[in-house]
Amino acid sequence: MLTHPSLSVFKDLPLPERLFVRARLFSAPLEELTNRVKGERILDVGCGHGLLCSLMAVGFPDRSIVGIDTDPKKIDWARRSVGRLGNTRFDVMTVERLASLEAATFDTVTVSDVLYLLPEADWPDFLAACHQLLKKGGRLLLKEAEDDGGWRTRKALLQEQVMVRLLGRTKGSGGLGFSTRERTQELLTRAGFEVRETISLSKRSTTAHVLFVADCV
Ligand SMILES: C[S@@+](CC[C@H](N)C(=O)[O-])C[C@H]1O[C@@H](n2cnc3c(N)ncnc32)[C@H](O)[C@@H]1O
Repeated sequence: MLTHPSLSVFKDLPLPERLFVRARLFSAPLEELTNRVKGERILDVGCGHGLLCSLMAVGFPDRSIVGIDTDPKKIDWARRSVGRLGNTRFDVMTVERLASLEAATFDTVTVSDVLYLLPEADWPDFLAACHQLLKKGGRLLLKEAEDDGGWRTRKALLQEQVMVRLLGRTKGSGGLGFSTRERTQELLTRAGFEVRETISLSKRSTTAHVLFVADCV
């Protein structure tokens, strides 16, 4: 697959950003999240360039997509691309701050490869804020790389150390590490979620991708 309708919104960004987004689309199983979205008001936490937002917004004019990220540079790229669609909004914001402003207003919250950038001690507050943002019955789609004790995890850790600490392409949040799926499930439950499905997405991938589908009860 060389092209995708959701990539066209990035056409005016500089080449390195276009290549980055394209590589991301073809290396991360983002469509596994978009296939499981519920409802029309959707929040993507740690949206980066807004690729996942684009996948959820293009072709769905009735949806309202909000993307937040703590990196102003990423939000700038997102506004200059996906932000041109009428059904998107992008803010430099933490999830905790948004929870104090727009509690219980989202049908789905997506978080894709963000938690690993925070110290694990901060995960409970982050997940609690996601829970607070969802309407009752709403859905959290959480995608991370898991610590499965194997080579995939070690490779992903090395790769992310390069992205965060060496190249500075990804803005960290004081941590860098993966957790086991059991530990993440436990934290989700403690934050008030019911974990409906835990899906391994590492087949045919060099990363131990895992997706948690958790409902707000
Ligand atoms: C690996 S990128 C993933 C981007 C996008 N979610 C995706 O899957 O393509 C991680 C993103 O999380 C953002 N980030 C880091 N710490 C964050 C935090 N505490 N709250 C929100 N976003 C954060 C980074 O700025 C970066 O854009």
